[in-house]
Amino acid sequence: MSGQESTSTFGRPLLRQNVWATRFGFYLAAISSALGLGNLWRFPFVTTENGGGAFVFLYFGVAIAIGLPILIGELMIGKLTRRGAVAAFRRLESDEDLSEGHRPGTFRAGPLAAFGCLLIVSYYAVVSGWVLHFLMQFAFGNFGPLGQASGHDVDLTLRLLQENGGMQFGLASVHIVIALVVVARGVQGGIERWASWMTPIFVLLMAVLVMKSLSSGQTVEALRFQFYPDFSRLNWNALQQAIGHVFFTLSIGLGTMVTFGSYLKSETHIPSAGFRVTVLDLVISAVAGLLVFPVSLGLSASGGPELLFRSLPRLLQDLQSGWFVGVSFFVCLYLGALAASIGLFESLVANIIEVFRLDRDRAVWLTGLVAVAFAAVPALSGSSLSHVSVAGRSVLEIWDSLAVNWLLPMSGLAFCLAVTRQLKASAATAEFQSDDSPITQSLYAHWRFAIVWIGPIVIGLGFLLTLIGWLLKSFGG
Ligand code: PFF
Repeated sequence: MSGQESTSTFGRPLLRQNVWATRFGFYLAAISSALGLGNLWRFPFVTTENGGGAFVFLYFGVAIAIGLPILIGELMIGKLTRRGAVAAFRRLESDEDLSEGHRPGTFRAGPLAAFGCLLIVSYYAVVSGWVLHFLMQFAFGNFGPLGQASGHDVDLTLRLLQENGGMQFGLASVHIVIALVVVARGVQGGIERWASWMTPIFVLLMAVLVMKSLSSGQTVEALRFQFYPDFSRLNWNALQQAIGHVFFTLSIGLGTMVTFGSYLKSETHIPSAGFRVTVLDLVISAVAGLLVFPVSLGLSASGGPELLFRSLPRLLQDLQSGWFVGVSFFVCLYLGALAASIGLFESLVANIIEVFRLDRDRAVWLTGLVAVAFAAVPALSGSSLSHVSVAGRSVLEIWDSLAVNWLLPMSGLAFCLAVTRQLKASAATAEFQSDDSPITQSLYAHWRFAIVWIGPIVIGLGFLLTLIGWLLKSFGG
């Protein structure tokens, strides 16, 4: 650890002194970053747009075949270099112990990842603002039981919010400030402590709500929709969307897991950590589907980013103790969104500290200002920018699609290339097999094969199929 990295001008420890206090703390932070809004907000609407079960099948396959190997690769790069993404890739080019030297055909994945982080964190803040708004609606009792005149209409509430750009921008800014206050406190005092009480409560509440949702009448249709793979319903861009969503939900492709990996204690075995985070995240998305689909299948207009906000309040309004469960649920959903945002911000702040040699406090300020400026665009999507649309999609949806379906897979490809061509094979082998177990010895070749071949080929295929779909649509009538 170099001396110049030891303390900030405000007396707080700088980044490289940070490590997770416990291995469990790392799991909770990684899982809460993965939990976020991706499972409850994004998974249901992307699955609905892509016809249900076949997409879920594709998504699970992509998660295991390329999501898990890349997650392991990111954590490994972070742990070996002890840097955030931008500096980590620089180090991979020069450090003799870690690097195969400069190889033509690779480019630095760090800046692309950092830019993606900024894009995602800013529109993520807008959706987190929606969660805050719904939380307040429940807390102030504005959503009464269904059928009661006092009860606010869910669709109307959503529409009024979307048409109010100023309010969305305000809520997004509040969210950014809250997230950065935690990030400013550092790893153990902020992120780890935060995640350790938030994650268990969230999982428990979800379990309670799933039981309620499954008893709400549409269970059989919902299960069929989510798990029966009818491949004829897949669009040409379904593979690309599945890849993008896997990257989004596992928080990979943006360097967040490189940063989290850089705080791991040396004894942590990365493949096991990556495996646990992936499996838990997949289980939670399946559970989120069980929660949302039984309610959303009955809605007339059921797609788009508003799906969760249209369906869930209906279920909650219908409950005996709806107020209490509604408030608790939106508190947890908000905490999930906050945990994911904290991961994104931590990654950005780590990059700024290392690249510009700023202390943590200044890096936090700078990140906050840029993120608030970026958030203005998606926040105005339903008001001042409502006239801008491509193929019926709003600015927010286009932003989501560009960042998740295009930028994340490209960045993932760059990560695969970096691990394949720049990370010294002997360093990767030693790290992967550090637990001396015969299982990991034999899994190493599979991991390498997935990173070298399967990842790049599947990501390339996703882009190619999307392109074919476009051409067919443009020229095939
Ligand atoms: N994984 C988060 C979610 O599912 O909501 C979103 C996210 C967090 C994406 C961190 C990327 C990231 F680096």
